[in-house]
Amino acid sequence: MRVISIENLEPGMEIGRTVHGANGAILLAAGVNLTPKFINRLKEWGITAIYIRDEAIGDIEVDDVVSEKTRLEALKVTKEVMSKIKLNSDFFDIQKVNDVVDNIINELLANRDMVVNVLDIRTINDFTFGHSVSVAILSIITGIAMGYDNTKLGKLAAGALLHDIGKSKFPEHLLNKVDPLNEEEEKLFQRHTITGFEILKNIKDFSLAAAHVALQHHERYDGTGYPRQLKGEEINEFARIVTVADIYDKMTTSIVGRPRCMPFQAIEIIMANRGIFLDPEVVEHFMNIIALFPVGTTVLLNSGEKAIVIQTARKHPTRPVVRVFIDRDGKRITPPYEINLSYSSNYFINRVIEEG
Ligand SMILES: [Fe+2]
Repeated sequence: MRVISIENLEPGMEIGRTVHGANGAILLAAGVNLTPKFINRLKEWGITAIYIRDEAIGDIEVDDVVSEKTRLEALKVTKEVMSKIKLNSDFFDIQKVNDVVDNIINELLANRDMVVNVLDIRTINDFTFGHSVSVAILSIITGIAMGYDNTKLGKLAAGALLHDIGKSKFPEHLLNKVDPLNEEEEKLFQRHTITGFEILKNIKDFSLAAAHVALQHHERYDGTGYPRQLKGEEINEFARIVTVADIYDKMTTSIVGRPRCMPFQAIEIIMANRGIFLDPEVVEHFMNIIALFPVGTTVLLNSGEKAIVIQTARKHPTRPVVRVFIDRDGKRITPPYEINLSYSSNYFINRVIEEG
């Protein structure tokens, strides 16, 4: 399988992985061949890239750090909780949140050496919920890397999953506004942190530390954030983790009017903000869990050849195993051959090719 961006899809290509919509429904199933109508639909749904099965390159399996089933379940629970709060109910079933969070944690602990591949292939209309789940996954992996035990991971995860719960009280038309918010709207928006905290702190059995994630996930390490301009370790540690995960996931997801960053570009920006906006220790751990060149990405090698990333390793983030399938003259190589860049010092990745 390889990742192909929407502009480069062609009729006849076979979908490698099922595309899901906002409510978890199947939009297009794996195995289906694309038609011009399907391609247009994907565009309408705001999908930026999908996995395509490409027989000529051979089989490339993309392993998920968390199964699709668990991710969809988490999406459903988050959505349920947020719609209840929107309807002015002060109560939601914390047990459901805890169960789904436990499933995510268990799966991540079982896959603890894996790096995070492309998490950002999803529809735009589920941004809030898809984003919450991704932020929870990224935060938990960072927590595991930081040596957290299960109890701490559970609290971090619940806080991460519901970090934006205050947004359910924010007017929907402003949430979907494409133009920048004016000063008054921005002030109102910033209140989602306080609102979120107020909601969570009153939920029985919801940890107070986790509720602080909602309050403090827009604080910045250098004291320039909101709502209270807290600095450094004044900010709750869970919130410092969620801030990094939140920023990374937003950068790598496309939102109307702003193209997404590739993982290595997002990581560069995160590194540049180490100790400025972001906690340097958290960033240190975070960098190691992200695949800079995710499996399925097309890259250009310094030799002029094109290759697909087929395996990534934590120890060598810039030197994955690649399958070379196009030679320097642009001709297909059959069969393609593999290079493990960690052992081949003559080769390196020049750049990611946008078609992938
Ligand atoms: Fe937020």
